[in-house]
Amino acid sequence: MRKIIIAIDGYSACGKSTTAKEVARELGYKYIDSGAMYRAVTLYFLDHLVAFTNPKEVDKALQNISLAFRVNAKGVSEIFLNGINVEQSIRKMRISENVSPVSTIKEVRQAMVALQRKLGKDKGVVMDGRDIGSVVFPDAELKLFLTADILVRAIRRQKELLEREDLVDVDTIIQNLQQRDQIDSTRKESPLVRPADSVEINTTHITIDEQVDEVIRLALSKIVAAGKRKFT
Ligand code: DC
Repeated sequence: MRKIIIAIDGYSACGKSTTAKEVARELGYKYIDSGAMYRAVTLYFLDHLVAFTNPKEVDKALQNISLAFRVNAKGVSEIFLNGINVEQSIRKMRISENVSPVSTIKEVRQAMVALQRKLGKDKGVVMDGRDIGSVVFPDAELKLFLTADILVRAIRRQKELLEREDLVDVDTIIQNLQQRDQIDSTRKESPLVRPADSVEINTTHITIDEQVDEVIRLALSKIVAAGKRKFT
């Protein structure tokens, strides 16, 4: 069967990664969490006291960063920063508070986009983020744009943080989400936009299973179409 690229974009905490992971599992595709890449860079910058505004320091730091995804024993993709599994530490609030500014840096974006394209070159990939359908893979066969009400997003994020023993009140999370929405959609370098050829899914009132079913249905029709194109 022909493989396709599935790009899932949208604001923070709209259910992108939960959907993407499950869709990838059902289709036997690779799952790439591009947000995790920006988070891992942020972790490195904070731990090594890199001044975000100093291009020389940023360039040097980027040269010392190596990112990789490895699938764990449970079949879940995890991110490694210079050989260390940072899947848990990049989800902490201190990273969420700094990741949007880091992801506005041109040099950071160039390095991440290049790596994302490399990871998706053989297709058969589900990648979620902010600019996947618009910049990273403008020719992706299936582009989705996820939305949800802010309160629902905040409660979902709070639950995720609690699972990592990070207790944060809903107001603080709403503030963080709104701040990130604002930075992500107004930045100069590849801002978050809804690609004209994407399908919008509002996840406020639907379950994860319903979200996943809808994406699988759309994906299968694109996979069939991609297979047919091969013979024309
Ligand atoms: O999906 P997430 O919340 O883990 O992403 C963290 C941040 O990374 C988000 O606020 C903006 C940035 N990001 C980006 O700029 N481009 C992407 N493709 C993915 C994430």
